[in-house]
Amino acid sequence: MAGPDSNQADPVDHGAAIESAATAGMVLEMVDGGLELRLPEERPGGGVRGEIESTLVRRLESGHPLRRIVHGLAETPGPVVDLTGGLGADTAVAAAAADRRVIAFERHPVVAALLEDGRRRAVAAGLEPATRIEVHLGDAIEGLRRDAIPPALVMIDPMFPPRRKSSALPPKPMQRLRSLLHREGVTETEVDAEVRAFLLAAEQAGAGRIVLKRPPEAIVPETSLGPPTFEISTKLLRWSVWERRAANDA
Ligand SMILES: C[S@@+](CC[C@H](N)C(=O)[O-])C[C@H]1O[C@@H](n2cnc3c(N)ncnc32)[C@H](O)[C@@H]1O
Repeated sequence: MAGPDSNQADPVDHGAAIESAATAGMVLEMVDGGLELRLPEERPGGGVRGEIESTLVRRLESGHPLRRIVHGLAETPGPVVDLTGGLGADTAVAAAAADRRVIAFERHPVVAALLEDGRRRAVAAGLEPATRIEVHLGDAIEGLRRDAIPPALVMIDPMFPPRRKSSALPPKPMQRLRSLLHREGVTETEVDAEVRAFLLAAEQAGAGRIVLKRPPEAIVPETSLGPPTFEISTKLLRWSVWERRAANDA
């Protein structure tokens, strides 16, 4: 189901995605012109959708941490690369914050299909930032190694391990993603190893800036990057930023 525009980088295999959703006990189908993922007992129209269109339609406050981080790139050349595309909300914020190419990787076929569908709907709705977004189905670390252009910014948002001190359920999209990706039992140590691999790949790709989004209590793993250059924290999230290359040393 490739869109009419040319920005769908790696065609998303909808047959494989539907089968993968069914294996996880879920339904993936088009409802009212949009692809959605839901439990069989949920009503059609009430499922989880890709978030590129909805994020671009919503007005984001100018102080949004990710917007500030993208604005801070100034003239640093290169694309923004989102290693953990998910449903695409962060990808959309980055695309709206700067007139740059934004590449989103997503390795899960169902999530990639939702991500691409959100991008396609946004392009069809005439939302310009979406025309600069490319969705790549596959492993981000391998993709980053293949791409010869050093990114201006690499974004990392690994799936959170369950919050220990809270009994509140995460929002529905996050619950569906967690069960689809079998992340309920993931440990902090496993997420740390994942984060290290992402940080190393971003460093080796020559990223100008690297941003890691994690809960405020999560440990930032020690790597050859050293400590973050600066951090922006809210009650629920923390963005750790490594500044690697300014515009004038590019
Ligand atoms: C927390 S979600 C990202 C949410 C996203 N920032 C958003 O705004 O919707 C993490 C996503 O990264 C994907 N992912 C994790 N490791 C990956 C890898 N090595 N390559 C590509 N995608 C990956 C997972 O499948 C999951 O969908």
